[in-house]
Amino acid sequence: MSRRVIISGNWKMYNTTAEAKELVEGLLAGVKDLGEKEMLIFPPSIHLKEVVAQCEGSKIQVGAQNMYFKEEGAFTGEISPTMVKDAGADYILIAHSERRHVFGETDELINDKVKAAFLYDLKPVLCIGELLEDYEAGKSKEVCRNQLVEDLKGISAEQMKQMVIAYEPVWAIGTGKVATPEIAESIHMSIREVLKELYSEEIAELVPVLYGGSVKPDNAAGLLVKPNIDGVLVGGACLKADSFLGIANA
Ligand code: 13P
Repeated sequence: MSRRVIISGNWKMYNTTAEAKELVEGLLAGVKDLGEKEMLIFPPSIHLKEVVAQCEGSKIQVGAQNMYFKEEGAFTGEISPTMVKDAGADYILIAHSERRHVFGETDELINDKVKAAFLYDLKPVLCIGELLEDYEAGKSKEVCRNQLVEDLKGISAEQMKQMVIAYEPVWAIGTGKVATPEIAESIHMSIREVLKELYSEEIAELVPVLYGGSVKPDNAAGLLVKPNIDGVLVGGACLKADSFLGIANA
């Protein structure tokens, strides 16, 4: 069966308003040639509304990088699922490794955010991935499995049909040390095994699993050719239209 292929870009904490506008203009010029592939971008939330407006009517889909799970309240500095919706975004990135490891998000909080995404009709892209020490100890699959079990608690099979998983080994993020296509493929297969165990074969086959971590135009093709790698989540290389489109066309 053929799964969706999603080329996604996480801008992280980069781009002023003018830079954001220029980047989206560049992407809009190239996105027409993508065929069946989907493009999804995650700008900083302060730019969401403008980026959504700029992308309207195009193939580019937009998501927020983070949100809190409550609808509103005294949570200074946070944004809510309804605000993300209100800004016109359809997707929400949840549990990016920087959220887990720089901001200390726990699996319990992440699970609340996944539930909130579905409650407010946002499509989650759930990030999982192991630290270097876990990788070196041969625990990559075990760590990813535990994260999936904890983060997906209470999520139904029907909801899982809207889910996207991103495997981002922490040791590969921003380090230039991309996982080899063979390593990534093997972890992606194990992620499908967990989805099969938690849900069904159908769900395991349906859910797109993206790879993230030092993806560049010159290594994207080798990853994307693997049967269980359904797209990428790009950081540094998505900040220039040429390089992000280079990955998308790989
Ligand atoms: P880099 O592509 O810069 O390694 O970042 C990956 C990432 O964290 C995307 O979410």
